[in-house]
Amino acid sequence: MDNVILLADKNSKAWDFAKKIQEYIIKEKQKFICLEEVSIKHFRNEEINMHVPKNVRKKDIYFIHDSTKNPQEWLVELLLLKDLLLSASAESVSFVLPDMLYSRQDRKEKPHVPISARTLARSISHDLKRIITIDLHASQIQGFYPEDIPLDNLYSFPEVVRYLKQNKITDNPENLVILSPDAGGVDRARAFAQRLKSKYPIAFIDKRRPHPGEVSEMKLSGDVADKDVLIVDDIIDSGGSFCKAAKLLKEKGAKKLFCYGTHAFFTKGTKELLELFEKVMISNTHYKEDDGIEIIDLSPIFAEAIYRAQKGLSISKLFE
Ligand code: R5P
Repeated sequence: MDNVILLADKNSKAWDFAKKIQEYIIKEKQKFICLEEVSIKHFRNEEINMHVPKNVRKKDIYFIHDSTKNPQEWLVELLLLKDLLLSASAESVSFVLPDMLYSRQDRKEKPHVPISARTLARSISHDLKRIITIDLHASQIQGFYPEDIPLDNLYSFPEVVRYLKQNKITDNPENLVILSPDAGGVDRARAFAQRLKSKYPIAFIDKRRPHPGEVSEMKLSGDVADKDVLIVDDIIDSGGSFCKAAKLLKEKGAKKLFCYGTHAFFTKGTKELLELFEKVMISNTHYKEDDGIEIIDLSPIFAEAIYRAQKGLSISKLFE
């Protein structure tokens, strides 16, 4: 990994994540890998002013970005950094995006709205080597990227299932139903269920949103009476979907409730979630710390993906 530089903003949450990736590769792969900083400041009028002190000539750069930044800054930083690195003669530039922002608008649900995920793909992909992300909102977003710029969509379920087993999430695992809070997440719920144990049943909720951020109606498909339920989703934004689902599940006779959301914004705090669920689990791709919230470290999956991409090894093997 001599030719590789991991790059991150030292003053962002991505620095810790990048450090963990570096430590994993050094320890588990017995290969040294550099971690260098990009300094990001602002001009007086708030325009971004960035600088990479290290020489990047002929190096393969993996920039690990902080998804908890303001989404508009997040995007402009990607554009400017790519320009900086290519003008400084980097051999290749890859983006590691622990949470791919702008993914929720991935189709025209109604007239006169942008397909933001497509616009993002068009604006960031040119001249990149690859993009690595995890639990993409919808896997077909990969189709917005040109065929010569691979988008590796990783999955958190192996690490999360390991965590659930280590922490004995329920006294009676045979009685656990995995539930997706919307139809789009059924494949994700199935992957969790299959990794936990093949005969785990899954359930899902048919969710309608009259406006973004509001959930009006929920209909349950599947049997949860007298069962413990683990809800899994890619994003917790306000937490409204999880809370509304929890109330419905209780009405339908579910017992203990657990939830996991990979990317957690908690725009309406965590109080109600913590009241309704036995455990609220999230990952460290996009997170806010709070008492009672359990954070699962996904840096090992990213470290494996970077190592394997660099060595030409299979990434999909990680999820078999
Ligand atoms: C949307 O389709 C996502 O998968 C999540 O279900 C959604 O962002 C959750 O939002 P909230 O927490 O505000 O209900």
